[in-house]
Amino acid sequence: MSALVVFTVLSVICLVPLVAKPAHKLPTIQPCPQSDPELNKCVLQQVTKGKPYIAKGVPELNIPSVEPLHIPMVTLEQGTQAVNYKAKLKDLKVYGLSHYKFQKIDLNLDTLMVSGMLSIPVLHLESDYTIRGRALLVPIQGNGIFKANLTDAKVKVKMQGKLVDRKGQEYLEVKDTMVKLDIGGATAHFGNLFNGDKTLGAATNSFLNENAKDIIDEVKPAVESVVNMLIDDIVNKVFKSLPFLKVFPKN
Ligand SMILES: *[C@@H]1O[C@H](CO)[C@@H](O)[C@H](O)[C@H]1NC(C)=O
Repeated sequence: MSALVVFTVLSVICLVPLVAKPAHKLPTIQPCPQSDPELNKCVLQQVTKGKPYIAKGVPELNIPSVEPLHIPMVTLEQGTQAVNYKAKLKDLKVYGLSHYKFQKIDLNLDTLMVSGMLSIPVLHLESDYTIRGRALLVPIQGNGIFKANLTDAKVKVKMQGKLVDRKGQEYLEVKDTMVKLDIGGATAHFGNLFNGDKTLGAATNSFLNENAKDIIDEVKPAVESVVNMLIDDIVNKVFKSLPFLKVFPKN
């Protein structure tokens, strides 16, 4: 299905936790020496250790919780002969991101390139939606609650870092990131289609479900771009007060 997808992420993630949680002990970052022959293993261990903190958020570092990840607005537009519609997902919440498991990390300290792959068993999406359009001559319209389950998600991350000098010390910052999301399976449900008409709603939902992967493919760029911002934000905040040579000492 070729699609024209327009998405807008109106505001970046709410970066300040609404309620300051009681301070909990921050993980101490173990240095990974540059000469460590198993540098990637060391980095993987540190990233895995930080997982519960990423899930809950770290108010001390101004890192928000990713559970759920909130995307204020996604606009989808598809215009082919067979299928054309405009849909809006408002207040999209993505649950399950914190159950990520890193499969591998590959860090090159010379180029400051890092690539990684992580898997997420189940993601659950929920949002308000409005949709209006046509699919195979069948009109589709409605507004209500959109829900979807995505299984076996794989996230590939490629990140280019850079070193910046602050008061004579070098700190790591994100220069560029690429996030690619791949989904194993998808199911979706649009509640209250056609003002709650049960027959039309059920028929349309089963049609949409057969095409759930295509629908998700269109929501994907928005999720990728928010996850991208989120990763940049977390990495920048974690390294903000940690000089590069403290994390990756020369020996
Ligand atoms: C998503 O998964 C949950 C738990 O398995 C299930 O109850 C729900 O009906 C599913 N929703 C959709 C839209 O597939």
